[in-house]
Amino acid sequence: MIRLKSDADIEHMRVSGVKLAEVLHYVGGLVAPGVTTGELDHAAELHIRECGAKPILLHYMGYPASLCVSVNEQVIHGIPGRRVLKAGDIVSLDLSLSYDGYCADSTITVACGAVSVEDQHLIETTRRGLSAGIDAACVGSRLGDVGHAIQQVVESEGMSVVRDFVGHGIGRELHEDPEVPNYGKAGTGMLLKEGLVIAIEPMVNAGSSAVRILDDGWTVVTVDGRKSAHFEHTVAVTAQGPLVLTQP
Ligand code: MF3
Ligand code: CO
Repeated sequence: MIRLKSDADIEHMRVSGVKLAEVLHYVGGLVAPGVTTGELDHAAELHIRECGAKPILLHYMGYPASLCVSVNEQVIHGIPGRRVLKAGDIVSLDLSLSYDGYCADSTITVACGAVSVEDQHLIETTRRGLSAGIDAACVGSRLGDVGHAIQQVVESEGMSVVRDFVGHGIGRELHEDPEVPNYGKAGTGMLLKEGLVIAIEPMVNAGSSAVRILDDGWTVVTVDGRKSAHFEHTVAVTAQGPLVLTQP
């Protein structure tokens, strides 16, 4: 069931989104050689609570932290802990919160110290893929247009889009309908209506799109061991065009 949002709902979600953007930007700035992934999680939780919001990933389906930290070949859902980051790592930070009952969801991938030109290119391509997907999220377009736009950017750089995990609708719940694939055929799929709010979140692998889940039950990694990047924004489809809610 699709729950379209009113202008008032979207205004609430923007407030949540701005808070999330600020926390995520802050935590991204902490990424450096020698820092542990657990320290990033603690900083995220502290700052979420300080701004009066709730860390909704904590205990979500049993997930044990407030932040997902996925390093290098880890695609998504990496569990923060004692791992010490080192120069050359690429680090995906996926964070969700709710404020006043409204959720926001966003992800960035940041370089830890100096990273290779290839890894920088992977990060930039993923960011561009997200940006193309956002641009396609207009009233009257279709979900396949969003996925297609992302897929075009990624595959034209010889990289691959993860297919086993997708974006999602978002509102009072973190995960609402519809599913939002990061691949697709232009002109196909659900028609985008004013008031639809979706989390668009391309996960991009340098090599093959195949992924698997580690024995911890959460961490998704590339099968070929090559690196992966992830960007995500919460986006409202409005009469004035796509509105990114998770930016300052
Ligand atoms: N922010 C993630 C998403 O886009 C949530 C990860 S689910 C968790 O859906 F349970 F691992 F936290
Ligand atoms: Co999401």
